[in-house]
Amino acid sequence: MAIERTLSIIKPDATRRNITGLITARLEAAGLRSIAQRRFFMTRQQAEKFYAVHAERAFFDDLCDFMASGPVLVQVLEGENAIARNREVMGATNPANADEGTIRKEFGESIEANSAHGSDSPENAAIEIAFFFSELDIVG
Ligand code: CMP
Repeated sequence: MAIERTLSIIKPDATRRNITGLITARLEAAGLRSIAQRRFFMTRQQAEKFYAVHAERAFFDDLCDFMASGPVLVQVLEGENAIARNREVMGATNPANADEGTIRKEFGESIEANSAHGSDSPENAAIEIAFFFSELDIVG
């Protein structure tokens, strides 16, 4: 199995409820190692750029407002099959459809305030990691 890196964002609904540690513990228990972290306020412009692929979707404006509504914790996760593993532990995008025991099922408030984001492919993981981190920030 391949050792991969992926980008994780713990979203404003989770920083607001002070559960970033709880969520990170789930990621670590799944075999993922946090090798870079930044907690910061994402600007509306950063959110628009990060989620540009969704620019035509009806939820885009609300999503960008939400991502800029409070601090986020952005992390690089490393581990075996990290991209799929992270998505497995997060569960389905809509918490209502997520499997029991997943992060979004347990902590997500709505499809928008769904507590966590994870890259969906190796190509996007590389792009998303480079969006927030330089190689010097990443300590494996
Ligand atoms: P995320 O994995 O961060 O990627 C895009 C985000 O858009 C998604 O999680 C959801 O939080 C948000 N979103 C809001 N509404 C929808 C929707 N109808 N379909 C998909 N994603 C949505």
